[in-house]
Amino acid sequence: MTQSAVRFDQVRKSYGRRAVLQGIDLDIAAGMSFGLVGINGAGKTTLIKCLLDFCHLDAGGIEIFGTRHTDSRARARLAFLPERFMPPYFLTGRDFLGYMLALDERVADEDKVRAMFAALELDATALERPVRSYSKGMTQKLGLGACLLAEPDLLILDEPMSGLDPLARARVKQLLRQLLDRGRTLFFTSHALPDVEEICEYMVVLHQGGLRFCGSPRALMQSYAPKEVPTSSGGPDLRSPTLGYAQDSMEQAFLKCIESGAHG
Ligand SMILES: Nc1ncnc2c1ncn2[C@@H]1O[C@H](COP(=O)(O)OP(=O)(O)O)[C@@H](O)[C@H]1O
Ligand SMILES: [Mg+2]
Repeated sequence: MTQSAVRFDQVRKSYGRRAVLQGIDLDIAAGMSFGLVGINGAGKTTLIKCLLDFCHLDAGGIEIFGTRHTDSRARARLAFLPERFMPPYFLTGRDFLGYMLALDERVADEDKVRAMFAALELDATALERPVRSYSKGMTQKLGLGACLLAEPDLLILDEPMSGLDPLARARVKQLLRQLLDRGRTLFFTSHALPDVEEICEYMVVLHQGGLRFCGSPRALMQSYAPKEVPTSSGGPDLRSPTLGYAQDSMEQAFLKCIESGAHG
């Protein structure tokens, strides 16, 4: 039987009268690339905060690799990059990486650090500079680099591509694929649907407190995208993912999904 990396059982979370998560059930198998999708304010970050025990649940339970999420041992095998990653401004890149690894009682391997910087297109001289001199994209890459150097079994990334240019996005996706090839589990949130389609085997759409869809990106498109869209000339529709229209159909499918009101 496949091991569960993350399991939500009827999780409820409200802020005041705003019910953000209304009974979430979710099971993510170990080794899976999982994408949590939803519009701004859907509750993606809240779901991650619940998972990491940063806030109390109103009801339900969560397990990480079979351990209750409130047990600190549940977090031993994961690394997390928050949505708004702000490392202490006075640290150098090298200090930051060193401290992060030290939390795990590990020492930064110089070759691995340099290789990670190169893989992320970060200039090695930035290692010696304080992070306050970094651009937003550089800071984001530093956070991703720290998470990847930790070589976690479960990597949780909240909007990891935000602030990254197309080259950096491609590099990060490459690194995430390598992590998956080594059997690790990826859990990330995004409102950038092409990234989800490219990386994820399994995704859910979170909307108005519930999961509106659970399945592969392809299944989302098959369930909600129009099979054939009439062209203005009335001729055959040539749109297909291989012709570069996948992004459109993914967006259309997502919109249809959240407008349909159906729970998948
Ligand atoms: N600490 C908080 N106190 C009150 N409301 C919050 C808090 N955090 C988030 N919210 C609200 O909960 C909803 C979900 O927010 P969030 O989880 O950040 O969504 P997402 O990450 O999908 O954009 C939003 O309406 C947001 O305003
Ligand atoms: Mg968020």
